[in-house]
Amino acid sequence: MSKVFITGGTGYVGSRLIHEVIKEGKEAIVLTRSAEKARELKAKGVEAIVGDLQSDGVWQAAARQAEYIIHLAAPPTWGEKVTKKVATTFGKGHYEMTVRLLNHVNPATIKKIVYVAGTSFYGDTGSEVPRDSNYNGEPKGWGPYIAGSVHVLDRYLERGLPIVTAFPAQIYGPDSWMPQLFIKPLYEKKPVYSLKGYEPYFSPIHVEDTARACLFLTEQGIAGERYILCDDMPMSSKAFKRLIEQELQVTGKVREIPRWLCQLILGPVLTEYATAHTYFTNQRLKEIGFQFRYPTAVDGVPGVVQQWVANQAQTEGRGQ
Ligand SMILES: NC(=O)c1ccc[n+]([C@@H]2O[C@H](COP(=O)([O-])OP(=O)(O)OC[C@H]3O[C@@H](n4cnc5c(N)ncnc54)[C@H](OP(=O)(O)O)[C@@H]3O)[C@@H](O)[C@H]2O)c1
Repeated sequence: MSKVFITGGTGYVGSRLIHEVIKEGKEAIVLTRSAEKARELKAKGVEAIVGDLQSDGVWQAAARQAEYIIHLAAPPTWGEKVTKKVATTFGKGHYEMTVRLLNHVNPATIKKIVYVAGTSFYGDTGSEVPRDSNYNGEPKGWGPYIAGSVHVLDRYLERGLPIVTAFPAQIYGPDSWMPQLFIKPLYEKKPVYSLKGYEPYFSPIHVEDTARACLFLTEQGIAGERYILCDDMPMSSKAFKRLIEQELQVTGKVREIPRWLCQLILGPVLTEYATAHTYFTNQRLKEIGFQFRYPTAVDGVPGVVQQWVANQAQTEGRGQ
């Protein structure tokens, strides 16, 4: 049975990835810093190792023995105002995790490493033509803070590590930013915030397809290549919101805020991220044969909204 060592397996994408790995008859070995999460995984029959990518530990032996590695772990990016100082700390942590992991991989036994970055590395794509992973944009938002990690991968490729790099765009699903920014306010008839004067392109991808694509790349991804993970239909954030409204059968209110206020509330990094176009094509991923479960957000959004509403009803039923 193929063994897949997963960092970030307790996260938003990683928790779906574990299901997909098991479904394909492979063995998942999940790294987490939390002893409690490791116990929960073990109770579900998943092998878990407690460790921190920012320090030495038993995880290094597991990384050395792995046939496949999917690296999803990253310092937190969500939930607080992101000043340049916060982002710099994030960047340092991101880089440290990358090199400490890759320093402990055995080139003789590893078959593939799927390294997960993000499209902020490519910066603002503009809204004219969809870009692929050859696009040479200037990193924006989180991009400058993950660029060091993305560039250092070349050094490990030269050392013979078969690294495939994945760049997911906007990963939507029933947790993370989609409920927080869209579903919950629309459901509660509260306004959705939008930046005055900006209507950036979005390149959505369902969280399950993101997980499936990462696993697919362990087999079909070409070492040294970069793949954008997004679905077939980039759209504006307004169009994405409309899909949610249709499913909830509401017409939401929008509260437009000026850029300076966004800077004040969210900080410069998230403001830059929120104002940049993310207009990409998944051509390369399709060329190697990936098939989407949800080819567009039109296919994926209704199920996500229904799932969120069902979870919400359960929570409300428990009086929480
Ligand atoms: N979510 C998106 O919309 C999006 C979009 C584009 C790219 N991405 C990228 O995709 C990847 C996965 O994103 P996600 O949203 O699934 O992440 P997430 O939910 O924030 O999860 C982060 C994971 O990283 C692990 N982690 C953090 N610090 C660690 C450390 N020092 N050592 C070991 N593990 C550590 C956490 O594990 P424990 O807490 O259990 O230790 C957790 O499982 C990230 O690289 C992210 O930047 C995400």
